[in-house]
Amino acid sequence: MDTTIARGLAGVTFDTSEICFIDGEQGQLIYRGYDIRELTDATFEEVCYLLWHDDLPTADELAAFTRQLSPGFAVRDEVIDLFRALPAGTDPMHALRSAVSLLAAFDEDPDGVDDANLRRIGRTLLTQFPALVSSFERIRNGKEPVEPDSSLSIAGNFLYMLTGERPSEAATRVMDVALVLHAEHGSNASTFVARSTASSLTDAYSAITAAIGSLKGPLHGGANAAVMRALESIGSVEGVEPYVLDVLAKPQGRVMGFGHRVYRVLDPRAKILEDVSKTLAAESGDSRWFEMSLEMVRVMDREMAAKGRQVKANVDFFSASVYRMLGFPTDMYTPIFAVARISGWMAHLYEQYADNSLMRPRLNYEGPTGRTFVPIEERG
Ligand code: SDX
Repeated sequence: MDTTIARGLAGVTFDTSEICFIDGEQGQLIYRGYDIRELTDATFEEVCYLLWHDDLPTADELAAFTRQLSPGFAVRDEVIDLFRALPAGTDPMHALRSAVSLLAAFDEDPDGVDDANLRRIGRTLLTQFPALVSSFERIRNGKEPVEPDSSLSIAGNFLYMLTGERPSEAATRVMDVALVLHAEHGSNASTFVARSTASSLTDAYSAITAAIGSLKGPLHGGANAAVMRALESIGSVEGVEPYVLDVLAKPQGRVMGFGHRVYRVLDPRAKILEDVSKTLAAESGDSRWFEMSLEMVRVMDREMAAKGRQVKANVDFFSASVYRMLGFPTDMYTPIFAVARISGWMAHLYEQYADNSLMRPRLNYEGPTGRTFVPIEERG
């Protein structure tokens, strides 16, 4: 038996997959053979279809897929009641995770893990995630939830259900790009959690609830909000260098939005989001967050090069300034990540359940041995 330890499962390959390929040395991200840089021209629905099937949809296939989706945006009264009952200040990721758990109780077949039932649940969650996140945001601000518009896309309905106003084509396009970029990324922490949870043949809702919990962490999907909180605390371009140097001087100091377990060069998604951030900064006339982000990249590049480290910006870095300029509150950034990543999580669940093997790694025991039990009356 191999007792080599791979902490954090770094470098461990646990199965095969046909969904996503990442070349960490070349900075390449591929969804079922298509380079991510080309997929940003597609809608989130097209990319979700690609992740869930074996190719991009034809126009007829896409029309049929979106017809199946459109009734799914309505939010149950029981979920609205839950959101109203949550204490003020509840983190939207706690609200989302709680609502998804509640949906399982009302699903017609929550526990069925046959492919057809899983795909029905996938369609439900794909439309419920944007509806839940937007409805919670309105309710916590004392507003009534907005009924969905079945003529709108996932990106469009998300923005509409958030604001109550039909979004511009430009805003919907930016949202589509953000959702496509965050849709899928192989065996990241939350997707691994989804697959390992599903491997006991528990239900899909339990696997997705677990994945939401994992994504929330600041080392994973929670990093985008952490980036914005850092930029807000820094306050100016001049403050960036001292901030970064102060973080790097701390033991285990980590600058949020930088570094990656797989990428050794710039995350291709970060480059795309940098361009989106630059465009939004020019359009809004407020380039403060974009300029501070560029300064942080400059200082990190210099400091990491001096250390001989390849630590580059990741997907969470520029998404922070993009979401800020789109007007989202900071604690909504990770829920938006979840609205996208439910597509990747479900794609991986279809794969896992179709050819399952229980995930049960081992630990090297280094505790005491040979102890003799002493009844409590005789213990000192
Ligand atoms: C996402 O995996 C995915 O695919 C995730 C994701 C997806 O789409 O699902 O891409 C999305 O989660 C992106 C990552 C978001 N997280 C952050 O931005 C948090 C900050 N990043 C770090 O905590 C870190 O880079 C990780 C957690 C992302 C990766 O950590 P690793 O692979 O365990 O690497 P490490 O922490 O052991 O660091 C290796 C070296 C260290 O040098 P030494 O201490 O050994 O000298 O690189 C340095 C670190 O100091 N380093 C950093 C750094 N990240 C790594 N130094 C400063 N700041 C950082 N952010």
